[in-house]
Amino acid sequence: MTQVPSPQLTLPDGVELVPGRGGLPAVRIDLPGCTGEVYLQGAHVTSWRPAGGDVLWVSEAAVFRTGKAIRGGVPICFPWFAGGVDGTSTPAHGFARITEWNLVGATVDDRSVELKLALTDTVDTRAMWPHSFAAEYGVRMGRDELCLTLAVTNTGDEAFTFEEALHSYFAVRDIRQVRVEGLEGASYLNTVPGEDAGPHVQDDPIGFTGETDRTYQGTTATAVIRDGDRTVTVARDGSASAVVWNPWVAKSAAMSDFGDDEWTGMLCVETANAKADAVTLEPGAEHTMTARITEVDHGQEALIGSS
Ligand code: BG6
Repeated sequence: MTQVPSPQLTLPDGVELVPGRGGLPAVRIDLPGCTGEVYLQGAHVTSWRPAGGDVLWVSEAAVFRTGKAIRGGVPICFPWFAGGVDGTSTPAHGFARITEWNLVGATVDDRSVELKLALTDTVDTRAMWPHSFAAEYGVRMGRDELCLTLAVTNTGDEAFTFEEALHSYFAVRDIRQVRVEGLEGASYLNTVPGEDAGPHVQDDPIGFTGETDRTYQGTTATAVIRDGDRTVTVARDGSASAVVWNPWVAKSAAMSDFGDDEWTGMLCVETANAKADAVTLEPGAEHTMTARITEVDHGQEALIGSS
């Protein structure tokens, strides 16, 4: 069933609900300071363009179809990450990214737009995860920042434990030249098949020379992506895990919705609570996790400065 904004919701100028790719309903944002796009399926941000190019990456091979996770942007993983703490939960990364959310709020001021999207348990979600919950997702985007806030409330009468991730895919110029700073000293689990799972300690800024799939645990540190003269910063609140992922050659080729050569141009740095950082909520309790994403492009600044 296609959800529509509640009848009371008037979309402000610069915000429009349109049929997106594959006919899926999407919110298009067109402000003086930025443009963007959010699909209702998964409350999935697929674009944030504050100035030049898109900060987010979406695969050319992404599939836009009901019930299929979009490859790129910011999928929301909830209520489990990957196969969950015991590795057996399906669908992978939980049901939130393949379920249509309700658009319940849209406001614009002179600098940014803020959307609110909501998801609550249904007969279908309870068949996969037997808990009552209310999730609200705030998407605030402007010229300076993309701020994503996922709030989960336990609306049932028993405690539950969940994992979550704002699985952000970033566009980079060449992953082989990228460094991620800020996670030095943190402990991580390595989930590349066949490699030592750890835990390991991150000694230096992260560089990329092969398939990389790491869950940093017990760290709230800001991650800074150095991509030539661009810097993308991911600051996290209420998030004790950070996942860093690039599939490299073989895994890219094995994914049907990921171009064989696209691994050079993307990197996931995810704001999460996963594995040992899973969150337990008592009845009535709420937990909030926020990712604040900024981009500085010194090359772009130099161009503007010289024009
Ligand atoms: C990452 C995981 O977060 O997501 C990887 O760490 C996984 O192991 C990747 O391959 C993509 O997952 P999916 O389900 O979207 O293919």
